[in-house]
Amino acid sequence: MIVKAVERVGDKVRLLDQTRLPGEETYHDYEDYRELIRAIRRLEVRGAPAIGITAAYALAVALKQSGDATRSNIEKLAAEIKAARPTAVNLFWAVDRVLGKIPGNGLNSLASALEIIWNEAEAIHEEDRLMCQRIGEYGAELFKDGDTILTHCNTGALATGGIGTALGVIYTCHQQGKNIRVYADETRPLLQGARLTAWELKKAGIPVTLITDNTAGMVMRQGIIDGVIVGADRIVKNGDTANKIGTYSVAVLARAHDIPFYVAAPMSTFDMVTESGDRINIEQRSPIEVTGLFGIPVAPAGIEVYSPAFDVTPNELITAFITDRGIIPGGRK
Ligand code: MRU
Repeated sequence: MIVKAVERVGDKVRLLDQTRLPGEETYHDYEDYRELIRAIRRLEVRGAPAIGITAAYALAVALKQSGDATRSNIEKLAAEIKAARPTAVNLFWAVDRVLGKIPGNGLNSLASALEIIWNEAEAIHEEDRLMCQRIGEYGAELFKDGDTILTHCNTGALATGGIGTALGVIYTCHQQGKNIRVYADETRPLLQGARLTAWELKKAGIPVTLITDNTAGMVMRQGIIDGVIVGADRIVKNGDTANKIGTYSVAVLARAHDIPFYVAAPMSTFDMVTESGDRINIEQRSPIEVTGLFGIPVAPAGIEVYSPAFDVTPNELITAFITDRGIIPGGRK
């Protein structure tokens, strides 16, 4: 049984608190949408698809709390939820999709508005589960028995409504009986690779070696890595891709060592309105996440910090996109 990052439980939303992993598997049930927004901001739930699913559920929770099913009120609540984090397009996509189900003049009955929103949020959740399956199936075609894959950040069950995107490909290879080994970048500063990817893969019995982010170049040079797969927070019209900070460095290294670099993502991560990567709003995180490690200072007090949560990999460094609709060639020649 794969772990569930987010789940509807009656009128509440259950989240696995990812800030406590791998030490503790703690779940919280939310019935206050502002707490759900806070949970998204503090990365209790994270990963683009899981953020989108949570945001859709949060709109139902918000409507129940406010008790006002007018269109203007629902739009106000939706705007508040969409401000939770700026980069993952799935957040905006999911909330707008739910909003699209509400008639122009709102609904007279709170009960019917709530039913529409919960149903649509559940549909988004279920579709994401199926999209992960398909990404896994398409992506697994690209790898053979004995391959070693490097990945960055966490893109598994913890980040989605299903088996994951980049990790979904790895899980599918494993299910098909291929012996796949994974090198997981620890992913500074918040260690999604060390805390979450290593935890998920170890639980699934898939061989995984944890490396510091700085080691990626060396293992590529040593000829250990057959391919890189990462996820995405937003893929824009020209193919430029925002993903966890450090992804761009890995893509440059992969090209330098002639190793294929794949981006795995569902169609809900594609933003066909934004023209190019330099237009993507990149979230800036608090300096505390860099100057301290779990409360212990690792830098002088008051030091200036630059901490973007994501970077943009230009399409020209991407070999192909592994999507739920098939493989789309990237711009790397
Ligand atoms: O800050 P996070 O942990 O939400 O960042 C997550 C990532 O960058 C993932 O790679 C991306 O959202 C894809 S998850 C399938």
